[in-house]
Amino acid sequence: MKRSMMALPLAVFLVVSAATLALAAEIRASSRDRFLDVARSGFERAAEISAEGMASGYFRRNELRELAAAGDIDGAVRFLSDLDGHFRYAISGRLEAGTPPDGPWYFSAAGTELRVRFPLSDAEGGARVGNLVGVVELDALRMLAEAAPGGEVTLVASGGREFAFGLSARITPLPLQALDILLSILIGVAVAAPVGMAARRHARFFYESKGLETIIFLFEQSDRFSAHHSRNVGALALFIGRRAGLRGRRLRDLYSAALLHDIGKISVPTDLLQKPRSLDAGETETVREHPVAGARILDNFWELSHLRDFVLRHHERADGSGYPGGLEGEEIPIESRIIAVADVFEALTGERPYRSRIELAEAFDIMRAEGLDRRLVDLLESGISEFPSFQLPRWARASRA
Ligand SMILES: [Fe+2]
Repeated sequence: MKRSMMALPLAVFLVVSAATLALAAEIRASSRDRFLDVARSGFERAAEISAEGMASGYFRRNELRELAAAGDIDGAVRFLSDLDGHFRYAISGRLEAGTPPDGPWYFSAAGTELRVRFPLSDAEGGARVGNLVGVVELDALRMLAEAAPGGEVTLVASGGREFAFGLSARITPLPLQALDILLSILIGVAVAAPVGMAARRHARFFYESKGLETIIFLFEQSDRFSAHHSRNVGALALFIGRRAGLRGRRLRDLYSAALLHDIGKISVPTDLLQKPRSLDAGETETVREHPVAGARILDNFWELSHLRDFVLRHHERADGSGYPGGLEGEEIPIESRIIAVADVFEALTGERPYRSRIELAEAFDIMRAEGLDRRLVDLLESGISEFPSFQLPRWARASRA
């Protein structure tokens, strides 16, 4: 495919692959968000249950409240010394001067540390001490390790995402996996390939309808006789090809190759092609270059290059007597063998500058003697009475000037 034809599918491939990869990254990111939500929820529950236990078991206490209210701070703090033995997440407790929270407790974060503050009250929750607060340091790392085992969530002093109670956390991003990349490429290819195929089909259709018409027209201008011959060979090849069982794309390619089979003759001097007498050895050699020249020309057009072998082999003979390769039988593509039969038949039964037309029966005898594919010669001979009424299909008529 030529470069400009590659541009569209390549662009589609890149855009779709990039979009798929971005989507995969987004899915991974949102799965991380969900993971963080679950971790946050577990962390909050653990902290609240802990705080609830401490509020009711430690800070609603007549003795503590009385010592605190009396200003015996040291005495009151002693009550808090075994906190860590009773509560899984408590590290230490102390009393601080300050206004107690309105509710039963209040969480506050300091960097990566989590504290919970309690009012000091009697066993019923009343008679709060107005200027002292119980402060417990919670083991936030342990709570986090239990809420999000695996170490994927870490607390950070700054720059992280909002986590719980004013703490910030960072979550390890899930790296894109090889599978994500592979899938993105596959999806890109899956979407781009039909685009490329459509572009290719469009281009091929253009060449088969308009482009081929132009080439034949130009051919006709440079060598009117050969172009006329090529049109007849095209129709004959199509007729034989159908009888030989070719269908669809193969039939179209056969027809295109038949129209172009002598395109290499544009490299042969016109006076040699139109010479009204037999050619000498050197001249014959020059004319025999035309299948190779034709294949070389088709190689330069990617839309037509798939036809190059059919053109290259149209002077091979089933018995190995042809050129340029001396191929035999099935070594020669059936398309080339069909074109060869059509070509010789057209040459024998059409007008030539150096002789008049030959009768059908004699023509078929000559063809068999010339080493052409006998089965194809028989197919043409058995159906030849139908050929005058043979109508080219619409797609083939589009390529006729
Ligand atoms: Fe030829």
